[in-house]
Amino acid sequence: MITIYLMNADGSQEPLEVPVNINLSLMEVLRAGGYPIAGTCGGIALCATCAVDILSGNEQLSPAGDQELDMLDLLPQSTSATRLGCQLRLRPEMDGMVFRITPAG
Ligand code: FES
Repeated sequence: MITIYLMNADGSQEPLEVPVNINLSLMEVLRAGGYPIAGTCGGIALCATCAVDILSGNEQLSPAGDQELDMLDLLPQSTSATRLGCQLRLRPEMDGMVFRITPAG
């Protein structure tokens, strides 16, 4: 298990204990936990409804692939710190990462 931190709208950081040994994505863990992330396409990088902003720990993530970058280009609110949660497999290196669910619009 690792601990990652979800920043809420009020600036508070909510610790989430997540498993790293069963190949789950960040989107899958958030959906299972009832957090407000749609993941409409089921995790195949075709909808961008799973976008998250990485506030700390970005350097520990694998670079985005071409399909992820194409989807992020379609999001008007995306920044260099925005990633698709479905493309982020939880790994030990992500321990301590801080993120927020990207606001829509
Ligand atoms: S769940 Fe659709 S792009 Fe991530």
